[in-house]
Amino acid sequence: RGPDTYSPTGQPTGARQGRMAQDGAYLTTAQGARLYDTDHSLKAGPRGPVLLQDHHLREKITHFDHERIPERVVHARGAAAHGVFRSYGSAAGITKAGFLAEGVETPVFVRFSTVLGSRGSADTVRDTRGFATKFYTDEGVFDLVGNNIPVFFIQDAIKFPDVIHAGKPHPDREIPQAQSAHDTFWDFVTLHTEATHHTLWNMSDRGIPRSYRMMEGFGVHTFRLVNAEGATTLVKFHWKPKLGVHSQVWEEAQITAGADPDFHRRDLADAIEAGAFPQWELGVQTFPDTEDQMFEGIDLLDPTKIVPEELAPVRPIGLMTLNANPSNFFAETEQVAFHVGHLVPGIDVTNDPLLQGRLFSYLDTQLTRLGGPNFGQLPINRTHAPVNDMLRDGMHQTAVHRGVAPYRPNSLDGGCPFLAGADTGAYIEVPAEVPAARKVRDAAASFDDHFSQPRLFWLSMSPTEREHIVAAYTFELGKCWEQAVKERGLQVLANIDADLCRQVAAGLGLPAPEPTVPPAAVEPSPALSQLGEQWPVD
Ligand code: HEM
Repeated sequence: RGPDTYSPTGQPTGARQGRMAQDGAYLTTAQGARLYDTDHSLKAGPRGPVLLQDHHLREKITHFDHERIPERVVHARGAAAHGVFRSYGSAAGITKAGFLAEGVETPVFVRFSTVLGSRGSADTVRDTRGFATKFYTDEGVFDLVGNNIPVFFIQDAIKFPDVIHAGKPHPDREIPQAQSAHDTFWDFVTLHTEATHHTLWNMSDRGIPRSYRMMEGFGVHTFRLVNAEGATTLVKFHWKPKLGVHSQVWEEAQITAGADPDFHRRDLADAIEAGAFPQWELGVQTFPDTEDQMFEGIDLLDPTKIVPEELAPVRPIGLMTLNANPSNFFAETEQVAFHVGHLVPGIDVTNDPLLQGRLFSYLDTQLTRLGGPNFGQLPINRTHAPVNDMLRDGMHQTAVHRGVAPYRPNSLDGGCPFLAGADTGAYIEVPAEVPAARKVRDAAASFDDHFSQPRLFWLSMSPTEREHIVAAYTFELGKCWEQAVKERGLQVLANIDADLCRQVAAGLGLPAPEPTVPPAAVEPSPALSQLGEQWPVD
């Protein structure tokens, strides 16, 4: 990891650069020996068998045989770009994070993705999109690993394997490759009704973006910011695209998926190459860090809930510009490793049980996907801050560590690493009460409301958007084989809105059921009801 090997931006320098960048004048072996033939293997005579002795043949084929690494277990298909984030300084009062001070510019790498399809699947499927940003700050890497939908399917990470098993292709035929239209997905989201809100967003136009450049991004969870005085504020992160939010209609998405499965990937790369650099403003909704972590009746630890912007406006805190395409898809887009636990001083997590599970999952999966514990040394993952850890050895270790005493304190290495004070250190626990230390698996009662926010979302839609939602549910449920799944799908819709349910039921040729939750349970909290009155558009 020494500076003699890599530049501050993680690019190989010095003697290694030529070898790693493949820019020498001659074709060579991996060891640098020049080659005079790469098209013919060594044989016992022109028509004879091939000889095991041929080192170049074996090296070339062996390396090729091992070119692929496992695709991500989710978000396997993606496209990425480099850029820069410029802070407005407007968050400096609520966080001590250095990269959010006024005027600071921070290099970033952003990977957009679909969730469920494999690496080779089409871009314009109906699905959630990942929006993951790596900030290479002077104080370490900060990753904001979000989606283009502000809520999630589940409230507790322990269900993540289940929702993904249900959403991935059926295990027998591996069909379909995308989220659309299959029984296991609809079986899960109608049995776990906390998924209703996210599913409704998926069935809306947000499920088929026009372009990565025209998507919002959301950190989804509530995070905790800490300022220089130690005061804390709860926030939700939002990315707002300068180009506005646009979608494809279903028929367009079908055509583009067929005619150009790389539609979103191409669009992003072409725009950047043409100098039309996409931009997003980063903003935060802020909430007082109260003991109950509720805001206007909304549980801030429930990742299936939003806080409407009318109740908590999004305050802009900086501008991100994507201005360079990756030069190598594998080295950068494929090998980048994001983690919600990559935090810098001034940004902390909350007790959202979905977020807490994610803190475990990302490093764990990357140990397999990227072959051991040293993937942080890959150029795309390298921090731009100085590294002085005590992590040693392991598969694919590329650093030549100096010294003999990788522990602290020590009296042998002629200078033991200092510890940061509370003002500059990261991962400092914000003192907080842990209520009723009794082991429970139950969630808070406020997590039980699964329908009031979906109802609010439906009421906020224009007539055209409603038509699209009805068509999407009718198409998707219509493709399910099991009658019971279709009927449960209608039951969920009845709990959101009678009109929505009636229209989809008519499309499916089935009776519309009565709601099973009392209307009072679906009525939003007093502050939200007022919004509901403003929002209906018909
Ligand atoms: C990957 C977002 C929930 C496990 C990703 C990626 C994004 C993302 C954007 C792709 C990163 C990239 O481009 O490389 C989210 C959001 C969530 C969520 C916004 C909820 C708010 C979860 C949960 C788990 C999980 C609950 C597990 C308990 C994973 C794994 C990967 C992944 C294993 C693959 C990572 C890799 O191979 O590098 N997620 N995710 N995610 N996520 Fe999540």
